[in-house]
Parts: sequence; structure tokens; C-alpha cells
Amino acid sequence: EEDGYDLWLRYRPLAGAERAAMLRHARELVAPAAPSPAVQAALAELRRGVQGMTGRLPLDGKQAKAGAIVLGTPASLPPSLRPTGLEQLGDEGYVIRHRASVTVIAANTDAGLLYGAFAWLRAVGTGLAPDRIDERSAPKLQRRVLNHWDNLDRTVERGYAGESIWDWWALPGVRDARYLDYARANASLGINGTVLNNVNAKPEILTAPWIAKAAALADVLRPYGIRVYLSVRFSTPLELRETATADPLAPEVAAWWRGKADEIYRAIPDFGGFLVKANSEGQPGPQDYRRSHADGANMLAAALAPHGGIVMWRAFVYAAENPVDRAKQAYDEFGPLDGKFAPNVLVQVKNGPIDFQPREPFHPLFGAMPRTPLMLEVQITKEYLGYATHLAYLGPLFEETLQSDTGHAPGLTVARVVQGAQAGGRATGMAGVANIGSSRTWTGSHFDQANWYAFGRLAWDPRGSSRAFAREWAAQTFTRAPGALDDIAAMMMDSREAVVNYMTPLGLHHIMGTGHHHGPAPWVAGLARPEWNPVYYHKADRGGIGFDRTASGSDALAQYAPAIARRHADPATTPDTLLLWFHHLPWDYPMPSGRTLWAELVARYDLGVAQVRALRTRWAALAPFIDARRHAEVAQRLDVQVAEAGWWRDACVAYFQSVSGLPLPAGTQPPA
Ligand code: GCU
Repeated sequence: EEDGYDLWLRYRPLAGAERAAMLRHARELVAPAAPSPAVQAALAELRRGVQGMTGRLPLDGKQAKAGAIVLGTPASLPPSLRPTGLEQLGDEGYVIRHRASVTVIAANTDAGLLYGAFAWLRAVGTGLAPDRIDERSAPKLQRRVLNHWDNLDRTVERGYAGESIWDWWALPGVRDARYLDYARANASLGINGTVLNNVNAKPEILTAPWIAKAAALADVLRPYGIRVYLSVRFSTPLELRETATADPLAPEVAAWWRGKADEIYRAIPDFGGFLVKANSEGQPGPQDYRRSHADGANMLAAALAPHGGIVMWRAFVYAAENPVDRAKQAYDEFGPLDGKFAPNVLVQVKNGPIDFQPREPFHPLFGAMPRTPLMLEVQITKEYLGYATHLAYLGPLFEETLQSDTGHAPGLTVARVVQGAQAGGRATGMAGVANIGSSRTWTGSHFDQANWYAFGRLAWDPRGSSRAFAREWAAQTFTRAPGALDDIAAMMMDSREAVVNYMTPLGLHHIMGTGHHHGPAPWVAGLARPEWNPVYYHKADRGGIGFDRTASGSDALAQYAPAIARRHADPATTPDTLLLWFHHLPWDYPMPSGRTLWAELVARYDLGVAQVRALRTRWAALAPFIDARRHAEVAQRLDVQVAEAGWWRDACVAYFQSVSGLPLPAGTQPPA
């Protein structure tokens, strides 16, 4: 019975001609003598895959003969098998080619061979004939990192997939077999780093017992090319009572962090570095001592630099002192620090200026800090998009951010900024807030696995296509039957826009239930911190609705490059997807559709509900193509989503109507 545990690495039996072809072209595996752990991992995966698909275990071969898959680096491959152009593929790239009945997987390093092995399995898993695979690929970003918001008590902040997969209590002695499957899944996508603990970090993570636990995980993940990183709390030495201050410029503080870094690297020689949330949402930071983010980040960076570690310093900052527009704070604090960060610091910026909403414009810092490496942070876990019950494929959301033109230079998209086009490629990376837990499906639902998948594939190639990744994922995870595969991919591609429509159409944002962020609550107004109240974001009143971020309002628009600012200063040239993000408009504002704004808003809510109903109908029709258990588990969630989409629509329309005082437009659907 299919339960989803195998993710996209299912390797189910092939039949007929497909099986015969696989048997013919994967008879033997040839690897360099004395294979490293990474090459052993590659071989183990190829054996698992071929055996799963054919029922027969490939032999261990010695030389390249017909039917062999040969893995090798320039040092191990005979010249006749050495592909040209390997030099351009760097430390992690690979080449796969098939000539004269021999498949060669070549790379400059063993990590590249591992990625090549997974790429070969992906190619056959998506239906390519083994003698037709011809691929050459190298990652465009250096650091492709999951951020686990996992607490030390095994709860997970914004986690909807059970408790943390890190069984902290049993570590370091007990190394759950699941860690290995976690490593395989990540390596199959090219994810090469993982931050083990929550950005809201505890000092304990840097004490000896916890370093030992992290080291045990690092040992399991290392053969798969995955480095371990830790989130650290800025005041750790002070709170552990090992210093009298946490002032980053105090010599005793810098010395403490240097000693701590040395201690970590003794246990984890390839430790990746620190992720830091400072002076945000009540976390301590350098500003507590009137120092800047750069002062804080550079002090930590100096401790890590001798060991090759990095600091990922988050730009997600906001405080109640900014009652006018929270969206402006990161730019205001970080913009002036451009060029002030040490070379091994990356500033990690969320995709948008508020907080992982179903839709946001790209963050204005992208393109505005040309001398600082910026890392993109996206949220894979669906805090604001219906948790793990709603179907919302996030590939299009990630792609929309990456493809956004920052307007700071011709063709300077967010993807190009993140790839280091401005900061000279000094350090590059992308982070995804993980949706992984100890749930049998890993992610709390079958379709949420696709969000992990899309993140990994886009971190490897930020210019990749979310549609292509949806098809790849669905082919490996569900079915390769042509019509069914088209339908599943189409459902996925429609799903995020449906969520936008039934939750926050036309640029509305952050009107979810406060605190937990599930379900509608646009009416909430009484919370102490202004920016915790949904009314702060939609600003609906008798006269109209929306957040004026033009010069007549908060002027957050001025943080964007002139071309972008100009286009969005006028509602007529603002895309309707972001209309109420940037403008406060009267209810009778005429929309391009010919409807008034009020009628358009109601129509979008209706559309969102209709789109989810359509997803349910399409899924029902796919029953013949999907195994019973997984089909039923998805169907149940779609039932919940239909009900909750109706809840969103009815609650929001009723509330906004109570404010606008307008009658429902003709043709509005009755309540769900
Ligand atoms: C959101 C989320 C918090 C999280 C924060 C962050 O605000 O709700 O739980 O800590 O983002 O990214 O730091």
C-alpha cells in the first residue's frame, strides 16, 4: 500500500519494453576503486533504483562494457570516456551521456557523481529511455539550504507535519534510519545544507551535549553532501553566564564566539555556519547595545572565518516602533549597511517585505544592496496558505519572486541578484523554511512534498520552470500516464492562485487569524501591537479599501527602483494582483473588467471557491490512475479545502460588506 513515505524516490516496477530497456542499460555499475562515502551513496541509490524498477540487482563491474553505467571523475575515467567541458561544471555539476551502449556519469568530485546518479534516476523516473539520457548540469547557487524551525523539545514552529524529525532526546547515540532517507531526498534535489534548529533559537543549542547531537546528524548527512548549520541566539554567552555582556564589540564576547566556533569545528569539521535572527520579534541583537546588524554579523563571521564558515544574517526585522508601515523596516535598517558586511556574511531576505503571504511583491532589498550577497528565503511550510491541508503548489510563487525584475539594472531579476550578479558572485544561496516533520508523508500531505521538491530544484537552478518541476514531481510521485500527468500538473499550477483568490485577492494581505494564521479574521482590531491587527493591512472603511504605499501614504514604493516605483504609483498601471497592496481605492473604483472594485473583490472570492471545487472534481476523476490510499488521503483534504475556501469567502465578503455598506453584486454565489 502506498503511504507516501518514499516521496519521489519510489522506483516502482516497470513492465514490458521499459523494463527490458532498463535491464539492458543498467546491467553493471562501474565505480572508481576505493569509492568514497559519497560514491558509495551514489551506488547504493542506483542499486536501489534499478532493483526496484527491474527486480534485478545490477552487478559490480570492473570496466566499461555494453550495458554498464560508469561513474567517474577525470582522475578515474579512461580518456575515451571522459566527457569534454567538465571543467566548466565546478564542484557539484555532472554530465550524463550514453554512447555505444555505455552510460557515463562524470563529475569533477564525488558529490557531483552523487548528483549525477540522482539525475539519472530522475530522468528514467520521468519516462526517459536510459539510452536517451544526455544531460549536463551545475548548480547556479552555492548554498541550497533548508531552515528547520525545529525546537529542542521537538515541537516545530509553523510545522504541520508532526513533531520534529530530529529525535533530540535519543541523539547522539541513536541515529534514526529516517535521517538517511532525509539525506537521500535532499541530495536527490541538490540541497546541500540544513539548519537544524529554529531561528527563534535557544542558548542550549551551543552547549556541549547539543553540539554532540548536531555532530551525529552531520555524520549521517555528510556522505550526501549536506552540511549542518545552527541557528544561534545573539545573547547566548550572556545567557549561559559565560560573559557579562553580549555587546558584539566587547573583546570578551568576540573571544567567546571564537572559542565556541573552534569547539564546534572540532566536532563537525565541515560545519556550515550560523543563521541569526536578531532584533526582530523580541529576539536579542546588536541593537540592544546600539550596534548595527553589520557589527553583530561581522563579529560572528570573524569567529567562523578561520574554519570556512558563513553567517546567514536575516533581514526579517520588524517592531512595534514602526506603526506606520512594517513593510519598510528591513530596507530602512539594512540599505545603509550595504558594503559593510564581512565577506563570509550573507544577508538572508524573505521573498516579500511582509511575511510569506499568498502573494507579495518582491522584497525591495533585492537589487538595492549591490555590494552585499543576498540570500533568498522562502517558506516551504504553508503558514499562511492553509497549512498542510490545503493544496497549494508553491512553485509558481517561488518562480514569481525569482523572475521579478528589480528595475535596478537591465534584466536584473531577483534570481540574478541571488546568483550574485551584483556582489560579484562572492557567496550565493537560497533558503527554504522546511515543511518536514515525522509524519509518514514527511510533509503532512502528499501534495506538500511537491513544495520541498520545487524548492530544491529552484535552488539548484533559480531560472528553472515551476511547471516543469510540477510535471517531474508528479511523474515520479503519482503516475506517468500522459493524460493523468497533465491533469495533476495543471491542478498544481492552478492551486496557488485559487488560494490567493479565496484568501487575499487583489493584493490584500495578512488578514488571517492572528497568531495561528489559519482562517479569516479581517475584523480583528484590538491587539496592542498595531501591526498584529488585520485592519492595519486592509484599511477598509466606508470610503474604500487597501494600503496606500504611494507618496500620499507610507511611501514604501520609494524603496523600489524608479521604474518599478513609477509603474506602481498609479493604480491604472499597477497589476491587479497587487492593487490593494499599493493603493487605497474607493469601493466604486472602476476595474479593467468593467466591474467596480467591490464587485470585483466579491467575484474573486467566488472564483477562488469555484477553483477549489474544480480541483476536487478533477482529482475525483483521477481515481483510476492513483493508488487508493493516496487518492483518498488527498480527496479528504480537498473536501476540507472546499469547506474552508467557502469559510474564507463568506467571512471576508460579510465583513467587508459590513464596512462598505454596499449590497452584494448581482450573481454572487450563496454562502457555502
Ligand atoms: C513569521 C512567523 C514566526 C517566525 C517569523 C520569522 O512571523 O509567524 O513564527 O518566527 O516569521 O521568520 O522569524
